[in-house]
Amino acid sequence: MTPAAGSGGSVAFFHLGQLVTNDPGLGDGSLGLVADAAVVVETGRVAWVGRTADLPEGAGDTAVDAGGRAGIPGFVDSHAHLVFAGDRAEEYAARMAGRPYAAGGIATTVAATRRATGAELAATVDRLVAEAARAGTTTLECKSGYGLTVEHEQRSLEVAGARTEETTFLGAHVVAPEYAGRPDDYVALVCGPMVEACAPHARWVDVFCDRGAFDADQAAAVLAAGARHGLAPRVHANQLGPGPGVRVAVEAQAASADHCTHLADADVDLLAQSATVATLLPACDFSLRAPYPDARRLLDAGVTVALATDCNPGTSYTTSMPLCVALGVRELHMTPEEALWAATAGGARALRRDDVGSLRVGARGDLVVLDAPSYLHLAYRPGVDLVWGTWRRGERADACARR
Ligand code: NIG
Ligand code: FE
Repeated sequence: MTPAAGSGGSVAFFHLGQLVTNDPGLGDGSLGLVADAAVVVETGRVAWVGRTADLPEGAGDTAVDAGGRAGIPGFVDSHAHLVFAGDRAEEYAARMAGRPYAAGGIATTVAATRRATGAELAATVDRLVAEAARAGTTTLECKSGYGLTVEHEQRSLEVAGARTEETTFLGAHVVAPEYAGRPDDYVALVCGPMVEACAPHARWVDVFCDRGAFDADQAAAVLAAGARHGLAPRVHANQLGPGPGVRVAVEAQAASADHCTHLADADVDLLAQSATVATLLPACDFSLRAPYPDARRLLDAGVTVALATDCNPGTSYTTSMPLCVALGVRELHMTPEEALWAATAGGARALRRDDVGSLRVGARGDLVVLDAPSYLHLAYRPGVDLVWGTWRRGERADACARR
């Protein structure tokens, strides 16, 4: 049968050998697992979930027989930097040969991004969005941060906004080269004309609060300026070393503190007492050959944890959420259940979304069918392309249906 459904039509998926709903009310365990499941998506939303045996007669204008394969909610990648030009493969090779990473390479990408045309930037984002969809991602966040002038940051967000659904103003990624040695002047630019020009094109404001980037006061000022322009906060925190990032994020009631590689006990306590999600980016640590965050400590303290790719040309040039799940299990000591939840429902929490990340009735019809009998295979078969098909709002989202 043809696996497609128009946005006005409906599609019934059946014989999903195992379905992850992320709704414990619908099935077993925290993932709400349903065996031999069926899902009906109508006008882009989940209209029915249950056992194939109970599927209403004639449901769906079109039907997809999953043949016993597993189904999961589409991945929610809540942290990515997709608007850039060029790549930094040489920097990667040098790093693997022992050169340390200190955020300095960002300037290389800034120079290339400024030189690029809007059409070139758009083509890169299109390519990465398509690549992510083929790996099962149906919701993507995308940051600016490689323009670092009013004009180039605004352009980056316009490109991102036309191609991804969550856009984040990251003018405070690093101090722009023109402002070298004058960080406070650059922060004033970010908090003034830059946020003014960018806010209409973004939902979020982010700041890189770390050594080599912005300190606590500068970061708090950027988040406050964003808030004055209607942008909700998220923070790059505690990636390169211990520091104030998590505290700044929690004090600003940020939706998410991202990286969290170097945490003090007080940081874990702050996160546990807050609604701020800890978004872990293990593909970045992998690509930097850096230590991994202590996910167990966070989970055991009751912190909500998300997994995301951090896709960017410097520290994590991957769109693969399955890789993040595998690393979450193997390197962060998450259970497969925790990792899958973090990559779907956790990402939704980090974006304050309740319409994605689960397959309960009313949720968006974002479904990934795996060429495997169980979600466990995402971690158990690392590096293998297990995505049989990706549907977003009930429509095929992986540009080339390869099987
Ligand atoms: O999330 N930490 C800051 N920003 C990116 C790295 C950007 C780059 O090196 O180009 C990150 O890892
Ligand atoms: Fe990042």
